[in-house]
Amino acid sequence: MKLFGYTISTLLHVLFVLSFSISGMVSSLGINYGQVANNLPPPATVLSLMTSVRLTKARIYDTNPQVLTTFANSGVELIVTVENNMLVTLMNPQQALQWVTSHIKPYYPATNITGISVGNEVFTDGDTSLTNYVVPAMVSVHAALVQLGLSSFIQVFSPTSAGVLQESYPPSAGAFKPELTGVLTQFLRFLQTTNSPFWVNAYPYFAYKDDPTRIQLDYVLFNPNAGMVDPYTKLHYDNMLYAQVDAVIFALWRLGHGGLDVRVSETGWPSMGDTNEIGATVQNAATYNKNLLTRQMAHEGTPLRPNNRLEVYVFALFNEDLKPGPTSERHYGLFQPDGTMAYNVGLTSLANHEHSSKPSTSISLTSSASKETFKGYQCLVYWMYVVLLAFQVLMRRPT
Ligand SMILES: *[C@@H]1O[C@H](CO)[C@@H](O)[C@H](O)[C@H]1NC(C)=O
Repeated sequence: MKLFGYTISTLLHVLFVLSFSISGMVSSLGINYGQVANNLPPPATVLSLMTSVRLTKARIYDTNPQVLTTFANSGVELIVTVENNMLVTLMNPQQALQWVTSHIKPYYPATNITGISVGNEVFTDGDTSLTNYVVPAMVSVHAALVQLGLSSFIQVFSPTSAGVLQESYPPSAGAFKPELTGVLTQFLRFLQTTNSPFWVNAYPYFAYKDDPTRIQLDYVLFNPNAGMVDPYTKLHYDNMLYAQVDAVIFALWRLGHGGLDVRVSETGWPSMGDTNEIGATVQNAATYNKNLLTRQMAHEGTPLRPNNRLEVYVFALFNEDLKPGPTSERHYGLFQPDGTMAYNVGLTSLANHEHSSKPSTSISLTSSASKETFKGYQCLVYWMYVVLLAFQVLMRRPT
């Protein structure tokens, strides 16, 4: 029976993942902690929520001192952001030094800031002058980190939207927009020199929404499907996210920087949308994020780099009620502002109850399991988690 097969494979999967976890090798899924809302809980509550679902990597869209202070000594790695409107100022090396001195240095290393995102999606922003500001600003911020002795701990980069691609299908045809070649050449040279990754915000949802009759929903949702074979590389793709990432790798290669590490700074799926936003449903959002999580836990890489676990930050932690634009924009969150789940992604089912600041995952799972009605196989899987996580906690006791 299929259900039975699924149960066994899931259990093996959990065992596999936990064996990594026990040996201290687990790399968590990242989460984007956006705060364009007027109803979010305070950072301390957010930290408890993240800890309770074992999210240990987050990206924020500013350098909010409250967040930076709260996340000190938490074990959470943080990527912070220079807002787009600051780029013009930070081109000036002296201003950049001042900025790093006041916005980063006081918090590090207690707060584990691992990266500074200098702007976000600057190459596709309506303000085209940002394109000229971004590389000089990155250079200045990096120089400031060097001067303060922080450059070997904190990377400097700038996440781009997938809109920088002119071609993305098939992946081997991946190429950047020709009008960006000049600035991207400098940009990529900076990343290469400073050993920084190329981060891309990739949303298969947008592609599906724009062409729901031709694009197969299962392909964009990571569900079982025939997928596609790239006619040039002969690589098989069973989901669009990996195809988009490999298209970026090919685009980088065409500009002479095929060796850069490519990571996903944002991906996600809205749980609600306007009537013309096809596919923005709770069920699709849950499926997308759940399937993505499963693949992350299996340490999957893309077909082009199968042994290189794809680093992914999900968008987003919360629904953000003040985001402008279509309804979908306000519904990317895994959580409602009150800390309840927007939908169940699987691993996070424990978040529904009172948050404890201790990562006592086994207890959380037990009590949440008793509250919710699971189907049989889910129940079994969750109880396996309880037992195995308890075991893990015991193994981790400091000696
Ligand atoms: C901060 O994160 C980095 C990258 O994962 C890790 O190597 C380092 O040990 C962390 N530092 C602290 C103080 O936890």
